[in-house]
Amino acid sequence: MRVISPATVSPLREGLRLRRMPEPCVVVIFGATGDLTHRKLMPALYTLMRLGMIPPACSVIGVARRPKTDEQFREEMAAAVLGPHASPADRALWETFAQGLFYVQTEFRDPEGYARVRATLERVDRERGTGGNRVYYLATAPEFYGEIVHNLGQSGLIERHAGQRDGRRPWLRVIVEKPFGRDVRSAEELNRTLLRVFRESQVYRIDHYLGKETVQNILVFRFANGIFEPLWNQHYIDHVQITVAESIGVEDRAGYYETAGVIRDIVQNHMMQLLTLVAMEPPVAFEADEVRNEKVKVIRAARRLAPDDVPASVVFGQYGPGAIGGEEVPGYRQEPRVAAGSRTPTFVAMRLFLDNWRWAGVPFYLRSGKRLPKRVTEIAVQFKQAPLPLFHDGARDPNLLAFNIQPDEGISLRFVAKAPGTTMRLRPVNMGFQYGTAFAGEELSAYERLLLDCMLGDQTLFTRRDEVEEAWALLEPVLTWWERSSPPPELQTYEAGTWGPPAAWSLIERDGRRWRRL
Ligand code: BG6
Repeated sequence: MRVISPATVSPLREGLRLRRMPEPCVVVIFGATGDLTHRKLMPALYTLMRLGMIPPACSVIGVARRPKTDEQFREEMAAAVLGPHASPADRALWETFAQGLFYVQTEFRDPEGYARVRATLERVDRERGTGGNRVYYLATAPEFYGEIVHNLGQSGLIERHAGQRDGRRPWLRVIVEKPFGRDVRSAEELNRTLLRVFRESQVYRIDHYLGKETVQNILVFRFANGIFEPLWNQHYIDHVQITVAESIGVEDRAGYYETAGVIRDIVQNHMMQLLTLVAMEPPVAFEADEVRNEKVKVIRAARRLAPDDVPASVVFGQYGPGAIGGEEVPGYRQEPRVAAGSRTPTFVAMRLFLDNWRWAGVPFYLRSGKRLPKRVTEIAVQFKQAPLPLFHDGARDPNLLAFNIQPDEGISLRFVAKAPGTTMRLRPVNMGFQYGTAFAGEELSAYERLLLDCMLGDQTLFTRRDEVEEAWALLEPVLTWWERSSPPPELQTYEAGTWGPPAAWSLIERDGRRWRRL
């Protein structure tokens, strides 16, 4: 577990004192025995309580199919959140938190189960003063989302919120985990299902990348500083590279990953978010819909690829056996529960164009993969060359601004300097800002931040209906080409621990550019 000592907590508290405290509420997690609940949701809720950012009355009802008592659920969550080495103080705090954890066992299609959820909610409201406020969190496998939403609507767990209680209107929101659909049609269908029961203002489609501090900082960097924005366009920028590299493989998630692949797992959501933030126009206000209006315009401006254009703009790959950090790792097809002849892509490199005034003619190169040499997420904005090569030293490194999203969060600007000496030798140097050294203390993790925002009713960092659908519409021709072409396009393998198949290099080198060495 992440340890937050009092010394590091204080700047965080300081910054967040400005925030409102959410009202007490109950978070109902569908899929409470799953990995996400153990690894992300419960630790995030506990940390928020521990830091005093949510009221102690906040409670959690875990809903899942396995039989379990409240007590067993609490113990399981304690093991997941605290681990074996928790201090007595942590354990005491956990005990307080755990009093607010409850469990309801049900099949997601069973109406009686929802009656039990309702009875538990009413009891928790009475006993813990949660005032009818609810967050429903869909953390199950996505095939259950529709059924759960429908049943929530049918079982009266939603209507009652239309009325006033104690002169105050309780609020109700739903968080939907990714993947949000698997193509345009299924995303539209899920949106329709959600919006038959909820209003758009109650729907929080989560993308944990938006909860990352450095991702939010892209907007601050661009719109709170005057010097870069005048350069932020096709007159001065040569191209943009976005890399989301992971050194891990598919781990134990092959069941899901085999049906997803890199486009559905990373590109449609996380990479599209990075693209929109770096390319959007300034919003008129920092408000949810103003920001999202601008983001969706970016995706709409992205040039749709006709199936025939896909091979020139997209390269898929799948990792074969190799070594990472000196350790041998199996290929994707050798991973547990992966089909022997699987064609699921674990790597993609692609080139996109945004057909709008700001970005006309500027290529955006995206690459993402598993089992690459290291975990690194970066957006690199490369400026055009200085117009005249005045110095004949041969070094012509154009200016480059890099947003290091993770793991070394920061921003760096490359420029050329004269190396000391009697001759005119030029060398690229970096001017850098590092989050870790510039700001003491620890920030909230993505899930902590996003859960808190949802409880406060702030949708800015959640994706809107049209954003999700547009992202699918952009990527669908690529998926169709890959999945439906006959004969199927050739699957390129890359050795685990390398930066993808050679064709990924040709994709950018054909344009006279190079991938960054990261
Ligand atoms: C998840 C994907 O959304 O993001 C995973 O399903 C991936 O496959 C993860 O590993 C990466 O997130 P992060 O925060 O580690 O970059």
